[in-house]
Amino acid sequence: MSNDSIFKTFLVAFLLCVVCSVLVCLAAIVRIDREAYNKQLEVRKTVLAAAGFQQQIDDGGNIDELFTTNMELKIVDLASGEYTDAVDPATYNQKDALENPDLSVKIPSDKDIAGMGSRAKYAAVYVTKTGDIVLPIRGAGMWGPMLGYIAVADNGSTVKGLTFYQHAETPGLGAEVDNPRWKAQWPGKEVYNGNSVAIKVVKNGSYDPKASDAANTVDGLAGATVTSTKVSNIVRYWFGDDGFGKFLANLKAKRG
Ligand SMILES: Cc1cc2nc3c(=O)[nH]c(=O)nc-3n(C[C@H](O)[C@H](O)[C@H](O)COP(=O)(O)O)c2cc1C
Repeated sequence: MSNDSIFKTFLVAFLLCVVCSVLVCLAAIVRIDREAYNKQLEVRKTVLAAAGFQQQIDDGGNIDELFTTNMELKIVDLASGEYTDAVDPATYNQKDALENPDLSVKIPSDKDIAGMGSRAKYAAVYVTKTGDIVLPIRGAGMWGPMLGYIAVADNGSTVKGLTFYQHAETPGLGAEVDNPRWKAQWPGKEVYNGNSVAIKVVKNGSYDPKASDAANTVDGLAGATVTSTKVSNIVRYWFGDDGFGKFLANLKAKRG
């Protein structure tokens, strides 16, 4: 067949298109895999940071190795406050559960201080080797949802750390929630005073280290009282009865 034949021209063009399409598809698949992996890595880093592993991360520790050796994933039924096997931890996605009426509940407006509307019935928590618990938290910030983790010691009340992995707050203002100096205030704070949620974020500058509630108080972000109050409400919601309150009370009772 002559190289000038119309059939051969179309055949070459067709084959070229097929090869290019396959290459583009492969590149897209690799990119999607990479994006999913990077997202997972970010969440793992957040869980580790909240649980007090920031130094190991900063020292260049392998995130996946640190995570798999230190974190055990468990599912909590928020209504009973007990661990449950109602869903498979390996496949359960707490974010997707919000879209599923069987796996989520509406939050009554008088209890919805974090501005979420609904929450998943089951929460995916991480338990460290030393018994600390890393709890997922979520709620409305000033400009959009804020998602993160807060870790508490095995006494169910002493904070180990707080870290957000997603928010839309303004750099230099609300986004200072990511500032290590601000986050450094959280470890050691007490969530509860008796059975009441006592932890709170106050307006920047009004934290008094000598006040009787200093152990429950975190100083707010400078020039960002709105975000500070939102964070306070998010944390208070998740430690309350509608959040992890029953689970942490059970933990305390079992520990004795
Ligand atoms: C463009 C713009 C973005 C802002 N972003 C934030 C923010 O992310 N978080 C926040 O708390 N306040 C933000 N503010 C400021 C709030 O409107 C409000 O003034 C502030 O939270 C009050 O805090 P202060 O009492 O500490 O000054 C922003 C203001 C502007 C004009």
